[in-house]
Amino acid sequence: MTSISERGASAESIQHHYDVSERFYSLWLDESMTYSCGLWQNDDDCLSAAQTRKIDYLVSLAGAGGRERVLDIGCGWGSVMQRLVAEHGVEHVTGLTLSAAQARRIEDLRDPRLEVRVQDWADFVPDAPYDTAISVGAMEHFVKFGWERSKKVAAYRRFFEKCHESLKSGAGMALQTIGKGNVVLDAQGLRDTIFMAQHIFPESDPPRLAEILHATEKLFEVQSVVNHREHYARTCSAWLEKLQAHRTEAGEIVGPEKAEIYEKYLKASIRQFRLGHANLYRISLCRV
Ligand SMILES: C[S@@+](CC[C@H](N)C(=O)[O-])C[C@H]1O[C@@H](n2cnc3c(N)ncnc32)[C@H](O)[C@@H]1O
Repeated sequence: MTSISERGASAESIQHHYDVSERFYSLWLDESMTYSCGLWQNDDDCLSAAQTRKIDYLVSLAGAGGRERVLDIGCGWGSVMQRLVAEHGVEHVTGLTLSAAQARRIEDLRDPRLEVRVQDWADFVPDAPYDTAISVGAMEHFVKFGWERSKKVAAYRRFFEKCHESLKSGAGMALQTIGKGNVVLDAQGLRDTIFMAQHIFPESDPPRLAEILHATEKLFEVQSVVNHREHYARTCSAWLEKLQAHRTEAGEIVGPEKAEIYEKYLKASIRQFRLGHANLYRISLCRV
């Protein structure tokens, strides 16, 4: 049993961010409610196409198409789960989230192929091994802000141990996460990092690539890593543009102060990804 002091963001912290209001998020995310970096192609591409392309890319990285059982760790409002069963011939998807509001949206679909649990992956006990796993935009929450490196690596290792325990031998896994960049933060970057930790993602801190790799040792083979940080700058720009276009409505739903905080967060994120203060990793792994 993982003790509280060894866990990342608590359910309360996750709900502080994700349970703000589904109506608010629907103003600026695409219609699938995907809340992670898209995969952009050309100049006249649109947000929903970039999100669909990203999901299909990760499904292919994980080798999830046509599988019987897929595990989605950090499933959000269920966009990956829905696409797995609707377009990729997957028979059953289990999604884990710490947000009750997100889980309700998936339950409301009443699709027997989709099983969602409001559960920390640390407490998840698989009833049978899964064929593949996907985790998109969740690892950023697996350690608390300010932890030293060895404690972070130990937490990520527990995560990979859980994935190892949940998967069949030779199973594929796709992981997408923000990572800390190697470009040293300037004064604005430092202020933005503290602002995010205080107001946007409490109790969370993204990993360094080396920490992820260290934590996979003897559990998963790393097959590919790409850094798509410019794709996240573009995704955040698309979100910001939509949020600004719906500023009045956003203010009515969450209050003008909170709506303004979200605009500040998206602007800070664009800057971080453009400057290389933050990276966006898409990693394919194979369970050994
Ligand atoms: C940024 S959202 C990404 C959602 C979705 N994968 C997407 O791309 O739209 C992060 C998700 O990770 C989940 N999460 C964070 N920490 C978790 C944990 N310890 N166990 C299970 N889910 C977790 C949150 O509840 C949320 O659903």
